[in-house]
Amino acid sequence: MKKNILTILAAAALVLAACAPKQTLTISGLNPADFEDTRDGIPVALYTLTNASGMEVCITNFGGRIVSIAVPDREGTMRDVVLGFDKIADYYPENNNSNFGALIGRYGNRINQGRITIDGTTYQLPQNNYGHCLHGGPDGWHYKTLQVEEADSKHLKLRVDSPDGDAGFPGEVTAFVTYTITNDNALELEYEATCDAPTVINLTNHSYFNLSGDPAGHAVTEDELMISASGFTPVDSTFMTTGEIAPVEGTPFDFREAKLIGADIEADNEQLRNGHGYDHNWVLDTECDDTRVAAELYCPATGIDMKVYTCEPGLQVYVGNFLDGSVTGKKGVAYDFRHAICMETQHYPDSPNKPQWPSVVLRPGETYRSECIYMFSVK
Ligand code: BGC
Repeated sequence: MKKNILTILAAAALVLAACAPKQTLTISGLNPADFEDTRDGIPVALYTLTNASGMEVCITNFGGRIVSIAVPDREGTMRDVVLGFDKIADYYPENNNSNFGALIGRYGNRINQGRITIDGTTYQLPQNNYGHCLHGGPDGWHYKTLQVEEADSKHLKLRVDSPDGDAGFPGEVTAFVTYTITNDNALELEYEATCDAPTVINLTNHSYFNLSGDPAGHAVTEDELMISASGFTPVDSTFMTTGEIAPVEGTPFDFREAKLIGADIEADNEQLRNGHGYDHNWVLDTECDDTRVAAELYCPATGIDMKVYTCEPGLQVYVGNFLDGSVTGKKGVAYDFRHAICMETQHYPDSPNKPQWPSVVLRPGETYRSECIYMFSVK
């Protein structure tokens, strides 16, 4: 009799557990239910990728945003190493102006005065930054709801349908971005795009890294950076590239040997003044070979190391110079000045107006492809 009652109670407990609303949090502490919505008629959700080593990446199809990346530190404690928000509404432009973790399109970084000329026709794009077009304008792809093409525990493939005239850019573009987690703790981002009329394209991801996992208490100036680049593209006081490629040799821009980000950031240097710190494109020495390390970021506090690989010729390094504590992100943390670093693989800024640089023009029949790998380890 007693045994029967126990069996019934155990069965009831199982039924109750199965019916309870799912509150399971991700390793990074996110509640997937806080990311469920419908926007632009498309369901929005949080997609969680995991690997055999316990790394976890959470992504939402709104803006293709990487919301969290959890990796082990040298003690084996999981650390969330990117900035972001803990609910979907905070990503919407009506609530926050941010590009945390976002897919950037159609053109990463700036286009001079928002003007491009393709085959003799000039197009005017939005001028949302010092008179220039930045990151595809105020309605760039970071605010688009993307279609989910494929999703499983190892990868997520999103599709962007960008109509002719989207943010002023000519031609209809169909683009795909695929996020893949590998068992050796890499996050691979692959981009592909086609068009029905000549246009320009330069896609990247705008994750803000803080490898300490403690963006409240840790400025990235305390971390070490290596960039495999002998040159960089100087900018004027409106952050516009001048067209020149300057050698890094003997300047604060020389990161060929790893050094603290903060080592020279306050040096008396016109380029540092123009960029409010480091906010420049480095001309990579890796010759578009994605098996060579383009850059490496290391946090002595946690031992977490991140290597960047890419087939792109350039890398924008932006050291959170415009973060000022006014935006509050995950776990209620206000994101302070230089408490994150972005490492955006790309073609050089304003390439459409710099014919001497690698071309960003995409024509019908061609396929644009790009790749960026963020590989994590501990030292
Ligand atoms: C740009 C910065 C800009 C930041 C945030 C970076 O890619 O170079 O100038 O402030 O993105 O949009």
